[in-house]
Amino acid sequence: MALERRPIGVFDSGIGGLTVVREILRELPNEEVLFFGDTARLPYGPKSKETVLLFSMQNTSFLLSRNVRCVVVACNTASSVAIPALRAECDVPVIGVIEPGAAAAAEATKSGSIGVIGTRGTVASGAYENALRAIDRSIRVTAAACPLLVPLAEEGWVDRQVTRDVIREYLGPLLAKPVDTIILGCTHFPVLKDAIRAVAGPEVALVDNAAATTAALRSILSPAAGCGGDSPVHHFVVSDVPHRFQEEAELFLGRPIGEVERISPEQVEEYYRSQ
Ligand code: DGL
Repeated sequence: MALERRPIGVFDSGIGGLTVVREILRELPNEEVLFFGDTARLPYGPKSKETVLLFSMQNTSFLLSRNVRCVVVACNTASSVAIPALRAECDVPVIGVIEPGAAAAAEATKSGSIGVIGTRGTVASGAYENALRAIDRSIRVTAAACPLLVPLAEEGWVDRQVTRDVIREYLGPLLAKPVDTIILGCTHFPVLKDAIRAVAGPEVALVDNAAATTAALRSILSPAAGCGGDSPVHHFVVSDVPHRFQEEAELFLGRPIGEVERISPEQVEEYYRSQ
C-alpha cells in the first residue's frame, strides 16, 4: 500500500524561514516540505502582536488547506506571540522556534548569562525570557532588538564593514554583560552568523534555532503519516514574488526549487475566513 504523502508545512514572514527549511531538508531528507513565505506582508518584526497573531492564523489555515501533517512556525516574531493560539486551533502538531532555541541555549551556557537578539516584536514579547526561566529560573537574560539586521540579511550583505558596524552597535550593551551564549532569535540572523561571530568573539556560543527546531520536529513526526520516499517534492509559495526570490532561495538551499507559486494576501485571508 502506498503511503499517503503529507508535507511538513513551514511558514515565515519571508525568506528567513529558509534557514529552518535548509536544516529540515538536510536532517529529514525523505520528508516533503511546503513552505509559505508571507513576502507581501513582511516584515512582521515591527508590527503589533494582534496583527502578527492574525497573519499567523491565516498562514496556518493556508497550510492546513494543503493537508500538511504539522506546522513549523519558522519565524521568531510569529512564534513569540502565536504558538498557544495556533495549538488551540490546529488538529496537527505546531512547532515554534522559541522553545527549542531556548532549550539549546540553556544547554550551551556555562555562566548562566544568555543574550537574545531578535526583532522588536520578539524582544518586546519576552518570549525567550519566559522560555529560559521555565527551564532554569536562575538564568539571566539580556535581550536586544536588532531590526536593521533583517534588511542587511535580505540584501545579502554578509561580509561588509557596515554590517559589522551595525552589529557592534547593537551588541555593545549585551556584550558589556557576562553573556557566554547568544540566541540568534530571528530566522534571518543565521545568514549573518560569521559577522556576528566576528563581533561577539569566539568565546561566545551562537545558538541557531534551526537545528534545535528540526530536532524537535523529528521527535514528533510519526513515520507513517508523511514521507516523500526517495524523491520528495518540495513546494514553495509566497504572497508576493520579490525580485530575485527564486535565485536567492536556490543559492541558499543549494538546489533548484522549481516553480514558485504565488497566492495573494487576500487569498491567504480567505483561507482563514472560510475555514
Ligand atoms: N522572520 C522574522 C523573525 O524570525 C524576521 C523578519 C520580520 O521582521 O518579518 O522574527
